[in-house]
Amino acid sequence: MVAEVIGTPLSPTAVKVLLLGSGELGKEVTIALQRFGVEVIAVDRYADAPAHQVAHHAEVIDMTDPAQVRSVIDKHRPDYVLPEIEAIATDTLETVEAEGVAEVIPSAKAVSATLDRERIRRLADEELGLPTSPYLFAGSLEEMRAAAGSIGFPCVVKPVMSSSGKGQSVLKGPGDVDAAWEAARTGARVSNDRVIVEGFVEFDYEITLLTVRAIDPATGRLATYFCDPIGHRQVDGDYVESWQPQPMSQAAYDVARSIAARIATAMGSGRSEVSGRGVFGVELFVKGDEVYFSEVSPRPHDTGLVTMASQRLSEFELHARAVLGLPVNTASRGPGASAVVYGRHEDTGIKFAGVAEALADPDVDLRLFGKPESFARRRMGVAVATAPTVEAAREKAGRAAGLVTPLRADHDDSAAPTEIKPMPQSAGSPADEADTEMMEAGTQAIRVPEQPMRREAPPMPRPPMPPGPPQRPGPMMQPGPRGPVGPSGPRPSGPPPPRPGQG
Ligand SMILES: Nc1ncnc2c1ncn2[C@@H]1O[C@H](COP(=O)(O)OP(=O)(O)OP(=O)(O)O)[C@@H](O)[C@H]1O
Ligand SMILES: [Mg+2]
Repeated sequence: MVAEVIGTPLSPTAVKVLLLGSGELGKEVTIALQRFGVEVIAVDRYADAPAHQVAHHAEVIDMTDPAQVRSVIDKHRPDYVLPEIEAIATDTLETVEAEGVAEVIPSAKAVSATLDRERIRRLADEELGLPTSPYLFAGSLEEMRAAAGSIGFPCVVKPVMSSSGKGQSVLKGPGDVDAAWEAARTGARVSNDRVIVEGFVEFDYEITLLTVRAIDPATGRLATYFCDPIGHRQVDGDYVESWQPQPMSQAAYDVARSIAARIATAMGSGRSEVSGRGVFGVELFVKGDEVYFSEVSPRPHDTGLVTMASQRLSEFELHARAVLGLPVNTASRGPGASAVVYGRHEDTGIKFAGVAEALADPDVDLRLFGKPESFARRRMGVAVATAPTVEAAREKAGRAAGLVTPLRADHDDSAAPTEIKPMPQSAGSPADEADTEMMEAGTQAIRVPEQPMRREAPPMPRPPMPPGPPQRPGPMMQPGPRGPVGPSGPRPSGPPPPRPGQG
């Protein structure tokens, strides 16, 4: 299932990748694939999505409609199908994989399991024995009341089919049950009235452990590689800033890698020795030396945008290589951080001032995603930065993001401020998936009143560093060669991760 050779795009020899979902993550994956001469077909629900603008072919379909998904696959005959979002007709992907029409990355099973909190939680807990928060499922208000009672308060309620924090509530006591049920029903992607009730984990910090399943050139078999842990801050279910590396105790780091290796390995289909390739964003909560599995994205993760600055190869380049069966290198370039740039306006064709000011810091880089429509809290860009320390990198990224000033399309540029000062970053932003869902439903979900433009510069909100005991730097703090976890690699102290080649 791995291409032995790479052909020429737009010719009969082309290796073709079809992306289902064309947001900012897909745009970076597209660029990484293009650099290897891969022909890319970008698909989304709306025209001129970020990846549409850099792919060879752009298609607009309803990705939840099985017939439309099948027909776009049959039209382009890709070698690989890469789902970039969760709201996709997954049954069609199962068929496409079973018929051998195309390889679904990482596997159709992984794509459908991860969009359903019940399936992924049962896989993690019941099949793999990974530590998670206590949890119960409920299908009615009364069941939910009983579940919350037995889990105890505080607890978290989430629709089983939802993402980006939608429909989620933290319940402090029995008095919050009714409102949480209503919020879950209205926030769910699919109205099947099913929720998960999770014990609230009082974590010290949370991380994304980017885990790569790629072919080890030494053995020709699948192996597991890890990036340095990424710390992040979430507001209303969306990430506002991330940094790498997140300092961890050696014990917590070992357990985190063990959990990540086991969940990533389980994401293959079992159909071939090399199925289940790609980058996985393993979301973990850490309390002292204890690590809890939360969820996993079977694709690059939004908090991993930081890797464009902090790694030798970004998570997007790693994903492209893993998909194509090429060797990967997860080495760090040093501490880095990312901070989100929000739209702040509801308008089409908005403009951005302050780009030169943001880039005046030589350690800063910027991505503007080119989304045709802006919402107040839509993620429109990201600033990334490197520095000798994570703290300094966070400062730089946050400052740069604040300097980028979105302007309405009809803004009089001649009246634009000549001296640009950092603006406060609004909190939280719906992710791409949420954006397209909002546009589709024509709702006003998760919108906040627009902030008036401010000239004076309030202090940058300084995100608190995660509290906890003094951290011993883990091994990820030391530069050194990376390799697959194997007989020669460091061993987690918990249950052993799967050996390379099992997959
Ligand atoms: N059981 C829990 N205990 C404590 N905090 C939690 C718990 N579950 C979720 N959270 C917090 O809420 C955030 C979002 O939760 P989760 O990742 O499950 O939601 P999501 O809708 O899948 O979000 P996304 O799609 O952005 O990953 C987590 O990153 C964490 O900060
Ligand atoms: Mg999450």
